[in-house]
Amino acid sequence: MPSDYFEEDDFSGEVNGGVFKRIFGLLRQHWVWVAGFIATIIVVSILDAYFTFLSKEIIDQGILKGDVDALVRILIRYASMILLQSAGIFTFVFLAGVMGERVRYDMRRMLFNHLQTLSLSYYSRTPVGWIMSRVTNDTERVAELVTWGLIDSTWGVVNIATTLTFMFAINWQLALIVLSIIPILLFAAVQFRKRILKQFRKVRKINSRITASYNENISGVRVVKALGREDGNLDEFKLETGEMYSASYRAAWLSALFLPIVQIISAFAIGGIIWYSGAQVNFESISVGGIQAFLSYMTFMMWPIQDLARVFAEMQRSLASAERIFRLVDTAPEIQNKPNAIDPGSIRGDIIFEHVHFWYEDEMPVIKDLNLHVKPGETIALVGSTGGGKTTIVNLLCRFYEPKRGRIMIGGHDYTDLSLEAIQSRIGVVLQTPHLFSGTIRENIAYGRLIATKEEIEKAAKLTGAHKFISHFEKGYDEPVGEGGVLLSVGQKQLISLARAVLSDPEVFIMDEATSSVDTITEALIQDGMEAIMQGRTSFIIAHRLSTIKRADRILVIEGGQIAELGSHAELLRLQGKYYKLYTQQFRAEREDAYNIFKEEPKAAVETE
Ligand SMILES: Nc1ncnc2c1ncn2[C@@H]1O[C@H](COP(=O)(O)OP(=O)(O)OP(=O)(O)O)[C@@H](O)[C@H]1O
Ligand SMILES: [Mg+2]
Repeated sequence: MPSDYFEEDDFSGEVNGGVFKRIFGLLRQHWVWVAGFIATIIVVSILDAYFTFLSKEIIDQGILKGDVDALVRILIRYASMILLQSAGIFTFVFLAGVMGERVRYDMRRMLFNHLQTLSLSYYSRTPVGWIMSRVTNDTERVAELVTWGLIDSTWGVVNIATTLTFMFAINWQLALIVLSIIPILLFAAVQFRKRILKQFRKVRKINSRITASYNENISGVRVVKALGREDGNLDEFKLETGEMYSASYRAAWLSALFLPIVQIISAFAIGGIIWYSGAQVNFESISVGGIQAFLSYMTFMMWPIQDLARVFAEMQRSLASAERIFRLVDTAPEIQNKPNAIDPGSIRGDIIFEHVHFWYEDEMPVIKDLNLHVKPGETIALVGSTGGGKTTIVNLLCRFYEPKRGRIMIGGHDYTDLSLEAIQSRIGVVLQTPHLFSGTIRENIAYGRLIATKEEIEKAAKLTGAHKFISHFEKGYDEPVGEGGVLLSVGQKQLISLARAVLSDPEVFIMDEATSSVDTITEALIQDGMEAIMQGRTSFIIAHRLSTIKRADRILVIEGGQIAELGSHAELLRLQGKYYKLYTQQFRAEREDAYNIFKEEPKAAVETE
């Protein structure tokens, strides 16, 4: 189950000025559209109120006076207003669509950009589902806020204002009654809003947990099935959905209650008007059309008020979304370029680890006082039992993480003085489980250097021995690899990622060899491919294959975050220490398999080397 770290954070419920400002910041670059949009809404809602005024005119000037000419004149005005209003509605709906799309695009680009800068540590802490939810749901919600939220609130405010103006123009005493009702209505609405919001927040919180666990279960579907965890997972899932259901239920219940309450309050207002105007008509200070218009305005005004309350409630949710988006954008990458970071043009040269200490979590040292001097062009094999810190060492070298104490020097520079691009663009990494992107084989190889020509791609594939299996595919290099490369075997994926590394022509090559056994032919191909890359490059290979280890210039045995032994294959065997033990235990069987020799005493096996 996901940790607390990424849980939906409670939104304070208060309108946060800072968040508002940044949303408007997003809108500022589209200000022409926004201005046109707001102007159209204002025109449309003034026209809305004007129609009711025209109804009053029809009754008072036309019908009651029996003046047909006046009636026709008013109707013509009515018709032209309708046309104008239709054009207005078309315009603002269209503008809303455009603005929403732009804001959505802006935010997603902003997030994408930022996500690329975040350090590896962020991703190991934050579930993909959580990030995806920010990128999809939250951007959607904010886009809605700046379009429909803006339409509804502008429309609501302008409508209430114009309606009140017309009311005051008709009869100020009656208008005052209405005016006094508005705060009561808004107060009731706000009370409801707060309670509904609380439930919605709960729903979202659980929803995001559910998304995350969906994500984990789908990406880990094989493990789930293999271990028969379906029932256990379902129980956890049921618990979450159960909670979500009851929160949704309460939210629905409150939302349903809201409307009738508003109706009752406004009924009181209407009653008051009828009673008061009844008294007034006796004194003949208001016309029949006036009363009719007043009642229409009264009912008409209920909608904008409810709308405003609804927008306000939704706005809170959207603001929470916006807050999360901005918080993500504000997350500073843990590893950043120093202000005066340099690019020396090359990272060839000595690589030196000086008293490097590292831990992922406080008080849990993973690398302890590591010292290592690697000459340019050297091949270093890292071996050792699992959890020893091999991957961590190469992660540090790639500067995915930085030493907590001590330093790493590359070509005479403390590598934190170099820019991340300077280092990472010159290191070629092939991972234990290479990641391919959905697309064709060609695209995946070219990922190492997008401008590569067809010939360069094939040359790289030939060099690493990938060409042969690729040409067996029906579509050759244009064969799709499936999502994450699922259509290929592990060995094939490794060959492709080797070709990718060759193509990018790195100065330092790092490989986390797969432990999973591939067939001997593929293994030989991978070996040849690696040789091709390692030629003339400083290489760090986390090695599991005997052939790789033996060819390394130096072998590091990493145990408990320290170098337990260091030397060439022959030296370390002579030492008869950890490497010797590892070698005799782990590789004897493999060696026997490969060379088909009989079982011998470890000592004898060594001597035949
Ligand atoms: N992202 C992480 N957060 C916290 N601890 C981690 C993280 N990655 C690795 N560790 C811990 O650091 C230690 C060293 O891990 P590392 O992956 O470097 O081992 P390794 O030698 O590469 O092992 P293997 O041979 O299994 O790949 C382990 O104890 C591991 O639990
Ligand atoms: Mg590892």
